[in-house]
Amino acid sequence: MSLIDESGSYALGSQQVKRLGYGAMQLAGPGVFGPPKDRDAALAVLRAAVEAGVNHIDTSDFYGPHVTNLLIREALAPYPDDLVIVTKVGAVRGEDASWNPAFTPEMLTRAVHDNLRNLGRDVLDVVNLRAMFDVHGPAEGSIEGPLSVLAGLQQQGLIRHIGLSNVTANQIAEGRGICQIVCVQNQYNLAHRADDTLIDELARDGIAYVPFFPLGGFSPLQSAILTEAATQLGATPMQTALAWLLRRSPNILLIPGTSSPVHLRENLAAATLRLPDAVANALDGIASGGAG
Ligand SMILES: NC(=O)c1ccc[n+]([C@@H]2O[C@H](COP(=O)([O-])OP(=O)(O)OC[C@H]3O[C@@H](n4cnc5c(N)ncnc54)[C@H](OP(=O)(O)O)[C@@H]3O)[C@@H](O)[C@H]2O)c1
Repeated sequence: MSLIDESGSYALGSQQVKRLGYGAMQLAGPGVFGPPKDRDAALAVLRAAVEAGVNHIDTSDFYGPHVTNLLIREALAPYPDDLVIVTKVGAVRGEDASWNPAFTPEMLTRAVHDNLRNLGRDVLDVVNLRAMFDVHGPAEGSIEGPLSVLAGLQQQGLIRHIGLSNVTANQIAEGRGICQIVCVQNQYNLAHRADDTLIDELARDGIAYVPFFPLGGFSPLQSAILTEAATQLGATPMQTALAWLLRRSPNILLIPGTSSPVHLRENLAAATLRLPDAVANALDGIASGGAG
């Protein structure tokens, strides 16, 4: 039993994963483009995560591109039996580091084969279709065409489970009419709570919700309320933000990203942090515009 077992577990497709996982995006170079600043440190962070008991890693071939998948393979293959690697398709990087939609059948099929090759797997555990109607947030538009392509690749045995990312409730409903959706990965954290209702609906249906930018992403969370709560708990603000997410709903799986072994240890230790009601209520005030 490791420290992070304290966070509990939840079903991600056919497997239970610990609720504290790891997001690999920060391992690519600046702007999620090119090689890492410190390659050995990147490999060490991945190995440390798995040694600490992490069995859910989030990645994509468009981080780098290809950089994080190749690092994951180098650091961790042959993979532990219980490790679930979740990847995403639907975008492609331009030479200028831009993020562009890649929704044609050819592009999606190529992306799945790229992920299989770069990760060194015969079948991908979970593939999220990342909607790109608006690169910065969910926007309406039918996902029937691209999702049907993924469902076809699933039937061929190349994908075990399918999830959705950067999507609206309508798109999730549309998707569930096409294939089983095991997880939804959208932006959500203490200060960005557009998905509050959606999280509860997904929990009722046993679907995992995986918030990206759990610590605020490129602009890490900063709030006087958060700092005060952390001081009260004898924890760091980042640990407090993660503990708040763990408490928020049982279907939330965390994938905080870091390139630092020290931050990794700090984040995983949030598994043991329990928020008293009064602290959780104070933290709720951050999203409703509390002075912070
Ligand atoms: N589906 C999507 O569209 C989408 C979009 C974005 C991300 N994601 C996924 O979600 C994962 C998490 O998102 P994210 O990594 O962008 O954002 P995040 O987890 O919210 O925050 C990462 C940032 O916080 C810093 N950090 C991490 N732990 C810290 C700590 N203990 N103390 C201080 N700073 C800390 C990191 O810097 P250091 O490296 O210095 O620790 C990095 O700058 C990604 O890795 C990726 O797998 C998905």
